[in-house]
Parts: sequence; structure tokens; C-alpha cells
Amino acid sequence: MVKSDEKVYPPPDDVVSSAHIQGKEYSELYRQSIENPDVFWSLQANKLLTWNKKWRSDTAICAYNFDTSLGPINIRWFEGSELNLCYNAVDRHVEAGYGDRVAFYWEGNDVEQDGKMTYQELQNLVCQISNYLKSVGIKKGDDVTIYMPMIPELPAAMLACARIGAVHSVVFAGFSAESLASRIQDSKPRLVVTATGSKRGPKEIPLKPIVDEALDICSKQGHMVEKCLVYDHHQAVSKESVNFHSGRDVWWQDAVLTQSTSCPVERMDAEAPLFKLYTSGSTGKPKAVLHTTAGYAVGAAATFKYVFDYKPGDIYWCTADCGWITGHSYVTYGPLFSCASQVLFEGVPTWPDAGRCWQIVDKLKVTIFYTAPTAIRALNAKGDSYVTKYSRSSLRLLGSVGEPINPEAWRWYYEVVGNSRCPIMDTWWQTETGAHMITPLVGSTPLKPGSATLPFFGVEPCICDEKGNEIHGEGEGLLMIKRPWPSIMRTVAGNHDRFEKTYFGMFKGMYFTGDGCRRDSDGYYWIIGRVDDVINVSGHRIGTAEVESALVGHPACAEAAVVPVEHAIKGQAIYAFVTLMEGYSHPPQDPTLKEALIGAVRKAIGAIATPDFIHWAPGLPKTRSGKIMRRILRKIAGKEEESLGDISTLADPSVVETLIALRENS
Ligand code: PRX
Repeated sequence: MVKSDEKVYPPPDDVVSSAHIQGKEYSELYRQSIENPDVFWSLQANKLLTWNKKWRSDTAICAYNFDTSLGPINIRWFEGSELNLCYNAVDRHVEAGYGDRVAFYWEGNDVEQDGKMTYQELQNLVCQISNYLKSVGIKKGDDVTIYMPMIPELPAAMLACARIGAVHSVVFAGFSAESLASRIQDSKPRLVVTATGSKRGPKEIPLKPIVDEALDICSKQGHMVEKCLVYDHHQAVSKESVNFHSGRDVWWQDAVLTQSTSCPVERMDAEAPLFKLYTSGSTGKPKAVLHTTAGYAVGAAATFKYVFDYKPGDIYWCTADCGWITGHSYVTYGPLFSCASQVLFEGVPTWPDAGRCWQIVDKLKVTIFYTAPTAIRALNAKGDSYVTKYSRSSLRLLGSVGEPINPEAWRWYYEVVGNSRCPIMDTWWQTETGAHMITPLVGSTPLKPGSATLPFFGVEPCICDEKGNEIHGEGEGLLMIKRPWPSIMRTVAGNHDRFEKTYFGMFKGMYFTGDGCRRDSDGYYWIIGRVDDVINVSGHRIGTAEVESALVGHPACAEAAVVPVEHAIKGQAIYAFVTLMEGYSHPPQDPTLKEALIGAVRKAIGAIATPDFIHWAPGLPKTRSGKIMRRILRKIAGKEEESLGDISTLADPSVVETLIALRENS
């Protein structure tokens, strides 16, 4: 981490003069957004979106309670208003004469695979999907699960749900059948949308068989999904290679493309549920983060426009998958609200080689490029020549999201990828926040590599010590937010109690982010990382409890404790301490056991949760009351035993030495 007195990168003059928010305008608007949110957000909401009915003007634009001692937590924005997000993302642009503008430039996994979809074509497709959904009885408020690769049909399916008022729940198509099943089981959709499969790098990834397995699990647990809509993505996996369950399965090409291309939009209330997105927490199963309509739309639209400084003519590319929040707010919704043309990429940045992103940037003249530090580090490791081989002269702005970006990676991104010309927007936010929270604005914020810089409009962060006392000025502690912003999640679907405990149970009257943070003397925020039992692997959140429960599900495993360990590319990797059942030695005789345990995690969660290390542990460091001391395990995993601290409170301090001795055998 750099100190605040190290090199600062002021916004270049030419960037400032053309930016939406210039110089001191940021601080003035920020002050207004905090002191007079009604004026600030009314103006933005009017400017950014088209409303069927405006919000009430006789009450505050946001009604909320953030304090559990005063009653249930509740947050309502733009009350009384009505709008439809699909209309805002698609139809209004066609009506305004932009039907021929490209909405998606699709780049397939293999270099020769590509395609385009205009706003008019997107409108036609969205209407056809909506009509199909309606024909099978899906209506306002119903859940639909989507498990698809990054093809235009994925955002189109999300928008079709929004059009008719159905609630989409996109599950990242890298999650295993068991993970998918537990999400389906939780939201109980009548319909699942999928594709035959995908191709990523050299690998074919059949998706339909995973859905078949998930639906089998669900039916055994009592939930029958009635319809499975399958897109034949023949460029990746052929129709012939997957099973078809007649009665339940329907081919997209037959059922959707035969529908009418016009379909009315539903008027949606401001607080109507828009989508659920499952994310990992420190305990239990992943939770269904629920976002609603008006506030989410204003948050996504405002941040997209101001943070990326979007202007007509830009070609925007966010590499995130729609299975994550970044793909919701900055692929499906934010860019389309602005009528942007964007790249959808189904492949991986290193296929066929590490120059793929820059080949696409040159081919499509990408101006705004948004990715994750893990991708930046992976590409950096392959060497500069893959980058410098391409011109990249179209780029004007870069973005980063998902985890703290280390200053070395920042500098490489800035100097090599951006030729020291393109400011980097390091955007800190979360699934729960719906939109960017702490981020530079290109025309007004001097950049410091490694800092997400300053709060976005309407966001009032605060840093607290462990007792909940606010730290003013410089300092380090827990990152809290003092008041709601439009795109804050409204609840954990089906479990409001968990919502209140997780986010409002830490300190009275404030939202707890789960992150540690430092504020420097310039008021810049430096995110340190999660302070709860969540591991950030390549920008993806994995709950230690989920991995532990997958390991313990294996018959040989008696107990498991999972901690993060630093990783040069992924940021953090998963490190698992495993105690085997009676009768096993540590390490075990059976050389295949390690792979079997790793396999159990991949089966329960998916490849993204693969532990990098299994450390055989005849015993775990526990307090006398039986609580595992993860602090000690983190030190052992990180080979930092010289700073173990006090271990005298352990029930059996000798386990520490045993574990250190066994590290080399694991
Ligand atoms: O720890 C923070 C980290 O990612 C967490 C949120 O993860 P998720 O809900 O999966 O959303 C990821 C994409 C928004 C945060 O609690 N994080 C995200 N962005 C940054 C970050 N940490 C540091 N800097 C960032 N720019």
C-alpha cells in the first residue's frame, strides 16, 4: 500500500474539460447530495430515466429506518413512482430513433466468432422472450432463474423479466449443480433459462447437464421446475450432445423466436422487486440479496454515466459476467440506460493468448475498459509484449473492481495498458450496494494507486473502531455507511432477520460493509479487505463456512477450518485445514484423499471455490470454549508464525507446533 504522500495522478486537462463532472463540481454536488438529497436525486432521476409516474413530492425522496431499536429496517426511495426498467434500457432508445445503434458487440470464445445486436433487434428479442414467459404463465412477481453463458440472450432474458415484472435470479454459469440447486430451491422458480453450453478457453462447458442434475436434486427435495428453456448455443456445445426432457424442456429457437416482437411493458412500483442475486456471507448458505426497481435504476444509471464519464460514441466493455452484480449494474442495466454500445465477451482474457483483450479493443475501438485486478495481474504476468503488440489508441478510461488493486498492478495497468494516458477508476462497491460507492470521477479526482478515493454522490461512509466509535479524519477501522443511497439492497429475500443482523447488527443506525478501511489525511479511502469470514478469490466472494461444510460433507473429513492466504494472481486463495476421521493418520496413507476433498468442494460450490492448499491437521487451535482461533490459522497458513501473538488461551497450545511441522507434508 502506498502512503498518501506518494505519487498522485491529477486528471489530465483535456479529460477535465470534456468530463460530465469537472474539478470542484464534485465537492459541490457531493455536498448537495448529502445536505439536500431530495433536490439532488430528483434532478438526477428526472435526467437519467423515463418515468410512468413521478414520486411523491410531499414526502422525502427516501423514507428509511436504519436503526433496529426503532423497528424493522426499511428503505424506500422515490415512493409513489412507477417505471419499467426494460423500457428505460431498450424501448425509449428505439422510440428516440436509435434503433440502429449497436447494443451488443458479441465476441465469442474463439477469435472468429462474433456478432452484433442493435437496440431494435434487442427490443424484438426481449419482446419475444417476454411473450414466451407470459405464454407459460409467468407474471409480475414470479421468480425466474437464469443460468447462461455470456451471450446477448443472457441480458435479454434479464430484461424480459424486468419488462413483465418477473424477478430474475441469475446464477453464474460456473457454479456447480448443487449450488444451482440450492439457489433454485431457495427462490422456487417455475422456469429456468439455460443454454446447451459454453466454451471458455480450450474447454467446452456443457451447461444443460448441470441444469438437469440441479433440477433432479430439486425435484427430490420437493420443488418441480415446470419449464426449462434451452438456448441452442451451437457455436459452443451442440444440441445433439445434450439430453432433452420432453414436457419440461423447450428449445429457445422454437419457443421464443416464433413469438410476436411486440409486448407491452408493465408499470412497476418504485419498490417492486427487480432481482435476487445470491452472495456469500460469513455464515450459512449464500443469501438472496434483493434489489428493487426505482432506486436501483437511478444508482446504476448515475454511476455508469458519471464514473465512466460515458458519452455517445463511446464503446464500452466490462469483462464481468452477468452472473455477478458487476454484470447486472454495468452490463445489463447501467450501460443500456445510457443507450451505450458495449462488448459482451464469452471467452477468457488469456485465450487464444494473453493479447485477446487488446485484440478486441483494437477491433471494436473500445474506449472504456472495466475489469478486475486478478485479470490485470494475470495479464501482467504474461509480459508486456501481448499488450504492446496492439495499438489500444481508442482507450480513454480504465476501470477496476472486485478487490483492492495493489499499486504495482495499478501502475502496470496505467502505464502499459493505458499508455499513461487513461485514468483508472478504482470502484469500491458490493452486491449489496448495487452500484459504485467509493470511486474517483474522471474529471475531478486526483488518483492515488491503490485507493478507491472518495465517496460517490449520496454516499456517507464512516470509519469506526471495534466499539463503534466513529474515527474522524485519518484512521483505520471498520467501514460503515451512515445513510441509505438509492441502490442499497432492501432485504435478504425470505429472511429479513438475517438482513438486519448482517448489515445493521454491528453498530446502531449504520450499514456494515464487512470491509476494513483506512482514511488518509486527504480524506481518501483505502479498502483493506474483508474483516469477516469471507474470502475474496479473484474478486469473487467465497464464504469460509460454505467451503468447510463441503469438506465436512466428505466421509473422511471430521472437521475443517478455512482461511485466506495471499496469492499473486487471485489476490487471495483458499487454504483449508482438515482433520480426518478416527483411524486416519495426518497426512493420510491414501494419496488420492487430497484430490477427493478438493473434488468435494468443486462439486458442492464450483471450480471458483477450489482450495489451493489442504493442510492436514490432527487438531485445530481452539479456545477452551471450543471456538476455532482462525487468527492463528491465518498466521500458520501465511508462514507468519513469528507474529502468532498470545496462544496461551488455547485449550491445547501444542497443536500450533504440530501444525507448523505438518505444513511441509501437506
Ligand atoms: O471486499 C470488497 C471487495 O469486494 C467485496 C464485494 O464483493 P461482491 O459483492 O462480490 O462485489 C464485487 C463487485 C462489486 C467488497 O466488500 N471489493 C470490491 N471492489 C473493491 C473491493 N475491494 C477493494 N477495492 C475495490 N475496488
